[in-house]
Amino acid sequence: MAMLAAAPIHLDIERVLLTEAQIQQRVRELGAQLSADYAGRTLTLVGVFAGATLFLADLIRAIDPTLKVHLDVVGVSSYGAGKTSNGRPTITQMPELLMFGRDVVLVEDIIDTGTTVAFLREQFQMVFGARSVRVCALLDKQPQLCRADYLGFACDPEFVVGYGLDYAEGYRGLSYVGVLKSRVYQTA
Ligand code: IMP
Ligand code: MG
Repeated sequence: MAMLAAAPIHLDIERVLLTEAQIQQRVRELGAQLSADYAGRTLTLVGVFAGATLFLADLIRAIDPTLKVHLDVVGVSSYGAGKTSNGRPTITQMPELLMFGRDVVLVEDIIDTGTTVAFLREQFQMVFGARSVRVCALLDKQPQLCRADYLGFACDPEFVVGYGLDYAEGYRGLSYVGVLKSRVYQTA
């Protein structure tokens, strides 16, 4: 079978922070960790829409197929089109499944201030009545604050795109994570 050539790096990308291979390797490790921790239980994976969808799709396939995994998404208002946070989040799309009594793992693309995951933890625990809530994040800009129970990578507090992460809804489809050239922001 012919090998597919790797796609060239997008012209708007200044620097690649995480390659596709690094991401995929770490996702396999996280999947193995979740498989061990939730062995014998039903795990409910809830991705934060839309940024976590690529991570979610890879993560569920990295979990032992003998484990029973329920899959859902939740929508949260956050950054809009800009680069800065806009205060208290709200749920914009409810999960379809009943979360009451479930062992939930929230799957998030990136933690910055921590407002989004703190809000979601509270909602799933106190309002939806989940039995347990843990957070699995691909990236954390302040990992010393330990807001993720499962973390892919620590990263510097700079704005990143790719592998689900967007800038003004662009760049989500990149299979790597990178930093944009400053001219992209100047012309936005
Ligand atoms: P927090 O509530 O400040 O932790 O922000 C988390 C949310 O902001 C995530 O769900 C992301 O959607 C978004 N976000 C934070 N940093 C970045 C980034 O560098 N690139 C793209 N989105 C980001
Ligand atoms: Mg988000």
